[in-house]
Amino acid sequence: MPDSDFVQQDFQRRLRNIPPLGMGLSVDVYSPNLFELVNKLRERKLQPGYLEVFKAATTALTTVRQAVSDIPLAYHGEGLWITQPDVQESPFFQQDVGEMVTQLNSIQSLWLNHECAMKQMAGYSFGTYIPPLYTRLSAEVVAANIVTVQQAMDRQGRRADGTAPLFLLEMPPLTYFFAGTIPIPHFFRLITALVPCGLVLDIGHLWTAYRYTAACRQISLERFVGAFLDEFPLERVIEIHVAGLACHETVGEPKAGEGLPEWIDAHAAPIPSILFSMLEQVLAHSNLVSLRAVALEVDTKPIEMIVEEYAETVRRFSFLVQQTMARGTAVKPLMGLHPCPASVQEPVCQSDRQQLRDDYARYAQIISGQVPIIGIEWQDVASDATGLTRYRESYLPHEILHWGGDLEEMFPQTCRALVERGVCLTEFVSFWFRSPRPLTHSYDFFLLKIERFLEFVTERAPDARVFAEQESDSLRLAYAQANEVGEPVMEMEPSQ
Ligand SMILES: [Fe+2]
Repeated sequence: MPDSDFVQQDFQRRLRNIPPLGMGLSVDVYSPNLFELVNKLRERKLQPGYLEVFKAATTALTTVRQAVSDIPLAYHGEGLWITQPDVQESPFFQQDVGEMVTQLNSIQSLWLNHECAMKQMAGYSFGTYIPPLYTRLSAEVVAANIVTVQQAMDRQGRRADGTAPLFLLEMPPLTYFFAGTIPIPHFFRLITALVPCGLVLDIGHLWTAYRYTAACRQISLERFVGAFLDEFPLERVIEIHVAGLACHETVGEPKAGEGLPEWIDAHAAPIPSILFSMLEQVLAHSNLVSLRAVALEVDTKPIEMIVEEYAETVRRFSFLVQQTMARGTAVKPLMGLHPCPASVQEPVCQSDRQQLRDDYARYAQIISGQVPIIGIEWQDVASDATGLTRYRESYLPHEILHWGGDLEEMFPQTCRALVERGVCLTEFVSFWFRSPRPLTHSYDFFLLKIERFLEFVTERAPDARVFAEQESDSLRLAYAQANEVGEPVMEMEPSQ
């Protein structure tokens, strides 16, 4: 095992390269239009301290870097499934890491933020993030994968001053259920003992960790947050996210007196006031000594709402955030500018990797409703399956049929032909999860939908395949063109 003092010193060495950025926004380049948003904020004299930009076409990121040269940029990655024991064996892993480093360099980001979550596991694909199995072995695998990514950043992302971007691991949301054998904060403590990564604490995700574990039936939210923060490696938290929460469109709002709402992570939705009370509690915790940035995560949110929420948050929290960051930067920096090896962690042995591979295959089959709930990490769910049932019966079918591309809009002619032949579209959900599939390209849910739907039609209504092929071709063409153009509209007004 690595020397935890060494890991801690390595983290401190990397941390000192990250200046305090203050309050900012975590955004998408396209939705809403980033330049329009920045202009609106500047009109209100609300220039953000930084912008964390979600993965996009590299040309688009380069355009952003040039257009907002006076605002520091940070990078929110996607598509490196570091929770998975076989991710490094994927034929696309090296390519994905290479692209990620190119993008980090193109915006001169000080960090790579990546969710500790996946959208693919054991040959099964999903549209939205699924949390890891919260087990000891799973934590060791995450740590080993972070080491590999950090080493790639140290090699290829090194800047002229010898520093490299830091891997930040974000605690993901729970979407109705929790699977694991150890508490969430303990899981992250195991990881930070092994690798010198930083962390992102998302306040809305923390709310879902309360809502979708037994805690919400046992203790108050305030007590849960207090206990969580005492155990979580808060000293590694570099960035805090605050984003909206909302009931999924397949779930109604709770009626008065019905208890806690079934909110899930929803960046387009307003930020509930309870999250700001939680933020206060987090900022007041004495272990929060490495904080550099606090962002409202606002991708897909209407610009007017972003501006109002950001103005109010700055008014209420900027002093507190400055105070908290000063607490952190007052810590005496350690020697040395150059990054050290990311860790001296021993590799996870093959039999453990195989074990975890099997656990993840069962995970995918359980949450897609193919097999019963069996296994020690499913004890919570076995005692109350309400949340998993919600996920299996409402959330997941909606994801496959409508989210990230509505099938009836993508394939109107084929869908009409299926109806005429008595094939129900909902059968596509079980078809999708019927068996694991080898990866044919880097993760892209839209392309996956096209590929799988074509196979579905071929099997269920072979004579309708001709329609599906025509519609697939035009969808792929339009998608490729959109990605190639990829440029956000740039109409910047001079900064004020
Ligand atoms: Fe987040």
